[in-house]
Amino acid sequence: MDKKYKRTLVTTALPYANGPVHIGHLAGVYVPADIYTRYLRLKGEDVIMIGGSDEHGVPITIKARKEGVTPQEIVDRYHGIIKKSFEEFGISFDIYSRTTSDIHRKTASDFFRTLYDKGVFIEKTTEQYYDTEAGQFLADRYITGTCPHCKNEHAYGDQCEACGTSLNATDLINPKSTISGSAPVLRETKHWYLPLDKYEGFLREWILEGHKEWKTNVYGQCKSWLDMGLQPRAVSRDLDWGVPVPVEGAEGKVLYVWFDAPIGYISNTKELLPDKWELYWKDSETKLVHFIGKDNIVFHCIVFPTMLKAEGSFILPENVPANEFLNLEGDKISTSRNWAVWLHEYLADFPGKQDVLRYVLTANAPETKDNDFTWRDFQARNNNELVAIFGNFINRSIVLTHKYFDGKVPQRGELTDYDNSVLEEFKSIKEELERYLSTYRFRDALREAMNLARIGNKYLADTEPWKLAKTDMARVATILNIALQISANLAIVFEPFLPFSAAKLRKLLNMASAEWDKIGSIDILKAGDTVEPAELLFEKIDDAVIEAQIKKLHDTKQENMKAEPSVAPIRENIGFEDFMKLDIRVGRVTECSKVPKADKLLQLKIDDGLKGRTIVSGIAKYYEPEELVGKQVCFVANLEPRKLKGILSEGMILSAEDADGRLAVVSPAADVTPGSEVK
Ligand code: 2FM
Ligand code: ZN
Repeated sequence: MDKKYKRTLVTTALPYANGPVHIGHLAGVYVPADIYTRYLRLKGEDVIMIGGSDEHGVPITIKARKEGVTPQEIVDRYHGIIKKSFEEFGISFDIYSRTTSDIHRKTASDFFRTLYDKGVFIEKTTEQYYDTEAGQFLADRYITGTCPHCKNEHAYGDQCEACGTSLNATDLINPKSTISGSAPVLRETKHWYLPLDKYEGFLREWILEGHKEWKTNVYGQCKSWLDMGLQPRAVSRDLDWGVPVPVEGAEGKVLYVWFDAPIGYISNTKELLPDKWELYWKDSETKLVHFIGKDNIVFHCIVFPTMLKAEGSFILPENVPANEFLNLEGDKISTSRNWAVWLHEYLADFPGKQDVLRYVLTANAPETKDNDFTWRDFQARNNNELVAIFGNFINRSIVLTHKYFDGKVPQRGELTDYDNSVLEEFKSIKEELERYLSTYRFRDALREAMNLARIGNKYLADTEPWKLAKTDMARVATILNIALQISANLAIVFEPFLPFSAAKLRKLLNMASAEWDKIGSIDILKAGDTVEPAELLFEKIDDAVIEAQIKKLHDTKQENMKAEPSVAPIRENIGFEDFMKLDIRVGRVTECSKVPKADKLLQLKIDDGLKGRTIVSGIAKYYEPEELVGKQVCFVANLEPRKLKGILSEGMILSAEDADGRLAVVSPAADVTPGSEVK
């Protein structure tokens, strides 16, 4: 924890190469990792940042099949887009490679083989669905059927999205292969399992005792996984896309994507440093930090460390500063609904404005809770903070230096008490920044950096050098010297956050380099040094530009919906008696809470006009519990009670489900007496 390390290895979650990256990815992973890495580089530390595309897994094969192309074509396309957009955005990877590289295939294959030879894996034969027409085993997502719990006919082999129950493909009624449409048959197949249960003791000790300093969201998630008890996890799949399982008799089987992907961090380090990579992965004086989003916590804190531990020669992560999610205009970012701001589109729409997005995503980073990105906030932060404070201060300092001192840094004279009080304010900035940056609190660090710009801006506003020019040039010289020194400080301080603007500022001030240790100094620039003519660092963004983005967001969402209309077909007619068997009632929600360890489920207490009842419903993704309390809802009152996550659910809340699987509970148009029948 307080250990001194000689070097740092920063890894960033490898994005799936089946789509471009969006602002959610940036805010959660790449911007914070880049700030951290740039900060360490600036301090002169030994650090490398590893990135790459995750190019295996079932969704890539599904997309390829839909488009009638090979999976390789899909990953080539998106790897290209992603790599280019990261570069343009200034994410300063030391390497951005991919998991279809030869070096990765070999590294992942050898890693598996080492664990296999050590006897780490359990081999198990189970029955899995096989599509005889397509001639292949089916991943759970390739099977649909009727949910045994709620009778939704479009449940997937791993989960019913209507009632939230997680399923095994074999639970489905009338299973169907989405590849051929035929009914799959069960066939025996052998797989290799990583026995996480055997590593529970080690994980408890290492995380729960050894890493109490991890972010509470990360620590909490690990604790709850460990408290639930770990199970062996299959690390191979019957699939023809991935790294082949390097064992005799494993034809047609590949490594599970979550087994090979994190090994990608190792392969990419090898590709970067063929002779030195082991220093970064095997030396206890290396600090390994994984930057990820919250959906990746279990893999980076439990599964991958278990793999590394089982292998035996690798270090373990020192920290995993996972972020929560970023929403967009109040709604979850969704690739399928095209509800996202895509990085490559942003770069095309806002050329030269990388730093504005970097600023907004950091100022509003989902570090401790989910946060919301809105275009209005983007505009306000640009216009009121970057332009009005930072940009304005720099511009005035440089323009005045040209006006009164011919573009040369003036000599500073005696400082006034006021000057000293201002300088006092920024004395602690380096320490504060270091404290925040080293503990992954990038939002606080950025606020601190911006505070320095505020101090500078206020200094000029208070001292008004333009008014003194006729009477006291010596004083003007001192004021502008200080203003320029603060500007030089800003050119260093902002380098990790806004690298494009910081570099531009350094050029304006003719600073050869940015040295972290100079933060706090007022002797960075020498009297007589030349300052280039002013150029704006930031520009105002007009309402029209923002409105166009908001419109685009809504328009492309609708286009997407239009492109794939998917209204479920009307089911077979039923007789009136069948309909009358359904007892649908109106009730009022009196209490509502999340069901522990089930992220889809809410537990509701319903006033049904009788003695009240409990209903468990799979709507947690769409409602906060408090939103529902007091609401009237319709429910099926005579559904056989059944247990969900140990809770007896007495009925079913009726919800409307749209083409995207989004749910909205059904309520009467006006309040009625609880218990009223719906006919
Ligand atoms: O969730 C994802 O997008 C995964 N592709 C992340 C993989 S991270 C690592 F293990 F490579
Ligand atoms: Zn269901």
